[in-house]
Amino acid sequence: MKVSVIGTGYVGLVVGACLADTGHDIVCVDVDEEKIADLCAGRLPIYEPGLEELVRLNLKADRLAFSTDLAAAVQQSLINFIAVGTPSDEDGSADMRHVMAVATSIGKAMEAQSGEGKVYKIIVDKSTVPVGTAGKVAEAIREQTDHPFDVVSNPEFLKEGAAVNDFMSPDRVVIGTDDPRVAELMKELYTPFVRTGNPIMIMDLASAEMTKYAANAMLAVRISLMNEIANVCEQVGADADMVRRGIGSDRRIGSSFLFPGIGYGGSCFPKDVRAISNTARQVGCQTSHPGPSSADNSRTCSPRNSSANVSSAVTTSGG
Ligand SMILES: NC(=O)c1ccc[n+]([C@@H]2O[C@H](COP(=O)([O-])OP(=O)(O)OC[C@H]3O[C@@H](n4cnc5c(N)ncnc54)[C@H](O)[C@@H]3O)[C@@H](O)[C@H]2O)c1
Repeated sequence: MKVSVIGTGYVGLVVGACLADTGHDIVCVDVDEEKIADLCAGRLPIYEPGLEELVRLNLKADRLAFSTDLAAAVQQSLINFIAVGTPSDEDGSADMRHVMAVATSIGKAMEAQSGEGKVYKIIVDKSTVPVGTAGKVAEAIREQTDHPFDVVSNPEFLKEGAAVNDFMSPDRVVIGTDDPRVAELMKELYTPFVRTGNPIMIMDLASAEMTKYAANAMLAVRISLMNEIANVCEQVGADADMVRRGIGSDRRIGSSFLFPGIGYGGSCFPKDVRAISNTARQVGCQTSHPGPSSADNSRTCSPRNSSANVSSAVTTSGG
């Protein structure tokens, strides 16, 4: 399939390279001319295990291209991913400026595609965006064109440091759409990545949008709670590391994201926790423990908190 990925940052580059590697025809677009020039020459702005090789291989095979020409990329593609940044705004909500600017540009590009009648496109929200964004993206496109299109929500769960592996072997793929034909096309795109039997989950748009924030909020709460537990351990003479092992072996709990440390960080957890808390406030759902607002990252765990492994007092981050 012909696919454009708009926003060639951490997520866009990984998505583009991995989809190209399964035989799709991918063009990755960015406004950053220097970044695109480097990528065309096979120079990557980030390090991720396996990514450079994937990019070089697929550039050489002509399945992957980089461009600053959004209109041309959209006009040649059936599926168009929006993968631009959604940083925190001043009030903690997600800043949607880049996403909405891209939506408008996509609409203009579709409108300018002449000579072939009305051309159908699928627009995929890959960026982490608040509930209701798919509707706003559709509205922004509709303001520019009456060509037919569908908007899909397809949040990304990759972790920095293991991005290629996470994308190639996802625990699940979440796709939000109300249209069974769109669901089939998206399934076709992702089938090579779920050969081990992990599910492609088709759901409504709002649930897909919410799933990404719920996952990051849940993980952030877990990290914060483990730090609180480690602090109590110190006061009562318990070994936080033994307690971690003791609870982690419970299948209902599991062992990931249970090391006490300096709290969560990275490019996504803090902003996504702020954004879901903001959404909760907006809809009158101020949460009590356990919930998004309980992901209090100020209670960290000092290295003396556990006799063992708090040397792993590194920031825990996720996508
Ligand atoms: N980084 C992660 O680990 C991760 C994981 C999962 C989800 N996400 C989400 O994915 C989204 C993208 O994150 P990222 O880390 O890749 O961001 P990033 O900042 O690394 O990359 C964003 C890219 O978009 C480009 N851009 C901005 N406006 C543009 C426009 N109008 N047209 C074309 N390109 C434009 C920027 O130049 C930049 O290269 C965010 O919503 C983020 O929350 C990130």
